[in-house]
Amino acid sequence: MANSILGTAPHTFVIFGATGNLATIKLLPSLYNLEAAGRIPEGMAILALGRQSHTPESWLEHLHKVLVDKFGDKLDKKIAQTFAKRFTYMFGDLRQPELYQELRAELNKSPNAAGSPIVFYLSIIPGDFNTVINYLDEHGFSEPRGLHRIVVEKPFGTDLETAQQLNRSLHKHFDEQQIYRIDHYLGKETVQNLLVFRFANTMIEPLWNRNFVNHVQITVAEDLGIGTRADYYDKAGAMRDMLQNHLMQLLTVVAMEPPPSLEADAVRDEKVKVLKSMRQIPKNAVGAYAFRAQYAAGAIKGHAVPGYQDEEGVEKNTATETFVAAKFYIDNWRWRGVPFYLRTGKRLAKTQSTIAIRMRHPPQHLFQDTPVDKLDPNWILLSLQPSESMHMEMQIKAPGLGMNTRTVSLNAPYRNNGDVPMEAYEALILDVIQGDKTLFIRFDEVEWAWRVVDPILKQWQQDRDFIHTYPAGSWGPDETSRLFDCEDQAWRNEL
Ligand code: BG6
Repeated sequence: MANSILGTAPHTFVIFGATGNLATIKLLPSLYNLEAAGRIPEGMAILALGRQSHTPESWLEHLHKVLVDKFGDKLDKKIAQTFAKRFTYMFGDLRQPELYQELRAELNKSPNAAGSPIVFYLSIIPGDFNTVINYLDEHGFSEPRGLHRIVVEKPFGTDLETAQQLNRSLHKHFDEQQIYRIDHYLGKETVQNLLVFRFANTMIEPLWNRNFVNHVQITVAEDLGIGTRADYYDKAGAMRDMLQNHLMQLLTVVAMEPPPSLEADAVRDEKVKVLKSMRQIPKNAVGAYAFRAQYAAGAIKGHAVPGYQDEEGVEKNTATETFVAAKFYIDNWRWRGVPFYLRTGKRLAKTQSTIAIRMRHPPQHLFQDTPVDKLDPNWILLSLQPSESMHMEMQIKAPGLGMNTRTVSLNAPYRNNGDVPMEAYEALILDVIQGDKTLFIRFDEVEWAWRVVDPILKQWQQDRDFIHTYPAGSWGPDETSRLFDCEDQAWRNEL
């Protein structure tokens, strides 16, 4: 919920990295959508800073192209014009102090600047975070303390130590309430729906614990490869790129206790408690808890694709993982003994994110003397993307003579016909503008999530000679089944 002190509308929204990939595919289109929805405060200017040299005219052409590429015929010319008027483009190198002097001069022109915040959105490589933060401070942008907002994108550090360094550097110049750490998964409507699904339905919440749940699976599968991001990805890998943040956030939302309110800190306190309750993986048992692999050549949608090692810019013989599967336990009253299996990878069979919750078997073998030899368990399946739906699998008596069972699924789409899907970034940018921090990551969440995965990364760092592979277009290596606690547990690939 919006914080009243921070709820003041910003007078300028500054985008560092405005010609970069993220700005092009997410930020600019999302800002346009907010414009179309009438949600951008009147008078809010947008200052785009980038490394491409542009005249004011060529910037506007660039912006127009970005929007046409995204919206095609659906682009509303009038709204696009209003939107374009908000922009000023500044060319410069964020590693040079001159850029900040020019920024200062530009911002000083704003007549309504005093007392209203500036948003600094760092849509840049993490290696440049510190440089920009320090220069902003040197040029007086951290003053008055508490006023301006700074938005940083994951990854927040590359391990616990570097995350702590980044936090220290941010906190030197900004208060925690000014810092918006984005994990765009929290902006997805189907992820926010998890809170509603769990806490607005009295029939769900009583089942959501170790007494009824056998295990939980969280899968974020992508059929895409690493594209042109080898430079970043080869140093990061799937654990840092996806599991430590996006999947861990999903886990905390699935596992958290009901918060006392929807206030930002009330929700985040509960998420941190989950992370603090996660069992530490012993160094000598990493192999039993986590599995990494890399895609080899294969086929996606019938087209041959190269293996990871043959992607442009990837180091030969690298042991960077493009797939990770891991098992975690949350040692609290609600979840003790229930495994949470998390899995994510590039170049998998299809793009699909699912939370699959397998329920326990009934305590009594009532059907043992009937032809029902095996009773399939109940599942709750929440499909987050691209299909957005909820399913509950139940057992019924199969029609006909004799006692047989059959699985039926109660299916509900997330959207009704006519409901328009929204980009995660739209919701998050609006929250930044409104000063609502509920969907942003607090510094202790980042640290605790690193504490959970750090032992795995440290062990992998030492074992750089070998990595399993899987053919592109598959569901990952079969060997991941060794993570399961029981023989009757298996990955749930289909809804
Ligand atoms: C990003 C990762 O954070 O999330 C990418 O860096 C990944 O590697 C992307 O492809 C997935 O996001 P989404 O919203 O497409 O599921």
